[in-house]
Amino acid sequence: MSFHSDYAIGVFDSGLGGLTVAKELMRQMPHEDIVYYGDTARVPYGTKSKESIIRFSQENAKVLLKHRIKMIVVACNSSSSYALPALRNAFDVPIVGVIQPGARKAVGITKSKRVGVIATSATIRSLSYAKAIRRYDPSVKIYNQACPLFVPLVEEGWLNKEVTYKIARVYLDPLKKSQIDTLILGCTHYPLLKDVLKKVMGKDVALIDSAMEIAGEVKDVLERTQKRNPQKKRGRHKFLVSDKPQEFRRIAGTFLEQDIKVRLVRDYL
Ligand code: DGL
Repeated sequence: MSFHSDYAIGVFDSGLGGLTVAKELMRQMPHEDIVYYGDTARVPYGTKSKESIIRFSQENAKVLLKHRIKMIVVACNSSSSYALPALRNAFDVPIVGVIQPGARKAVGITKSKRVGVIATSATIRSLSYAKAIRRYDPSVKIYNQACPLFVPLVEEGWLNKEVTYKIARVYLDPLKKSQIDTLILGCTHYPLLKDVLKKVMGKDVALIDSAMEIAGEVKDVLERTQKRNPQKKRGRHKFLVSDKPQEFRRIAGTFLEQDIKVRLVRDYL
């Protein structure tokens, strides 16, 4: 199968969270078309089993491949943690996930060689970041912390409330005690809590935003395979969801600062 350079970049996530990745792709590659698919019918993935996450991810890839796409970006950390081998086996389009770029960046900047990872329960259970970090540098000590209440707090829009700080302190205090100097935000939603996380962790801890890191990786893949879009017009962005398109349109439009059209996908299974 051949994938043309003027095809779109396909992105999927369990829902809205992957828009942090899409926004960064739009910023770094304004000429690229993007097809974004949010599986809003089955969000959250972070509380689900490995088997379900793999199955949902394969179905998401099939939805994207009905469109003219040249690669798949797995924006969801929980999917990236479990489903990449299955996806790469099943589909012959280039597929990138968020774990590798985030891990590489963390290893590159830690001085104390103590790195914290915060993520959903599924991502922490998979040890995906720990394994990726060890591949780059086995001497780095890794401190994992699942933060299951962060996703609902972000979905509720409670980005700066006192209760959010309280919960963040409960999750992050053990990491502070471990004297990490780098913290990976291993979930699509966590970049939206950056202010809280920065205040709780203090200025000496670097926060790694996987959305920023994956955009660089996508650019590298497109350059390496000579698939950058040669046309210098503004990229077009298409949005698909498996449930509640109106709600997605409202929230995503505000977050991306553009009026968007959202299409409901009915045959996503
Ligand atoms: N997108 C998910 C992730 O990055 C967070 C939301 C969910 O649990 O589905 O792991």
